[in-house]
Amino acid sequence: MKDKIQALLEEIKALTATHHDAIEQLRIKYLSKKGSISTLFDEFRLLAPEEKRLIGKSLNDLKNAAQEKIALLKEHLNEGLAQADQLDLTRTAAPIAIGARHPISIVKNEIVDIFARIGFTIAEGPEIEDDWHVFGALNFPPEHPARDMQDTFFIEQNPDIVLRTHTSSVQTRVMTKQQPPIRMIFPGRVYRNEAISYRAHCFFHQVEGLYIDKDVSFADLRQALMYFAKEMFGEHTDIRLRPSYFPFTEPSAEMDISCNLCGGKGCQFCKHTGWVEILGCGMVDPNVLENCGIDSKIYSGYAFGMGVERITNLKYQIKDLRMFSENDLRFLDQFQNAY
Ligand code: PHE
Repeated sequence: MKDKIQALLEEIKALTATHHDAIEQLRIKYLSKKGSISTLFDEFRLLAPEEKRLIGKSLNDLKNAAQEKIALLKEHLNEGLAQADQLDLTRTAAPIAIGARHPISIVKNEIVDIFARIGFTIAEGPEIEDDWHVFGALNFPPEHPARDMQDTFFIEQNPDIVLRTHTSSVQTRVMTKQQPPIRMIFPGRVYRNEAISYRAHCFFHQVEGLYIDKDVSFADLRQALMYFAKEMFGEHTDIRLRPSYFPFTEPSAEMDISCNLCGGKGCQFCKHTGWVEILGCGMVDPNVLENCGIDSKIYSGYAFGMGVERITNLKYQIKDLRMFSENDLRFLDQFQNAY
């Protein structure tokens, strides 16, 4: 019996409970009429008087310990609940810093979406390219000064390797792998050896487009670009195409949009011309098609390319290009509400 008392005492010391029902269950288990301690008292009554003397005190101690423990459990539980009552659930949580999409990504996604709506799919390619994909296939003859025009980063040990200066290299990759119809846009980062200033950086982002099929004409190009300009800058936007030169397109043009700040009336931003330049474009030179294994007698196409930074500047009037890559949260946080 002594052992039983000792074992129960240990058991009771270790009791825990997290709610009132559990405490009541414990009380029933140990202290009710049929509980284990009451059963011990029944056994106790049957003992011889000298044994009763030996054990009586420890049995009483056990009963007291059980009662105290149950009372203590109740007290702790009530204290805990009272504390929980004092929790102020209306207080704001520790502030969570919400990030924002980078303005370049916002605008890039918008350009991609606009062209996706008229059936253009996306392709991407490597930023480290070989000379042929960036220049050779695109009709830049060796030693042609146009290679300088883009201030290329060459790898000294292997001048065949370059950081791509335009995403036209992805056009080369697509045209060599796939026969027309091709209707794709190519977003990505490009590199040019420019001195870093508020208006130039040694890397920036482009989205180029390519459409090759039978009977594609300059009118198709103009219409697609007109659609783009209106979607991007608003229904009232007008465009104009000025003759230009690129080795890979013939004829080539630069596209201006009516200044989105003054509506074309003329302001400081558009240098009082009413127009701002946003992209280069043209009909893909037949040589380029042939270089890539596409029959230029059957197919024709147009291409265009724009700088994402330039479009972003026009949309958000960002005065200094360097802000895009300085990781200044005061700048980036301002785009939290853009999508
Ligand atoms: N690749 C040209 C550039 O980087 C842009 C362009 C693309 C022009 C396609 C015409 C056609 O400047």
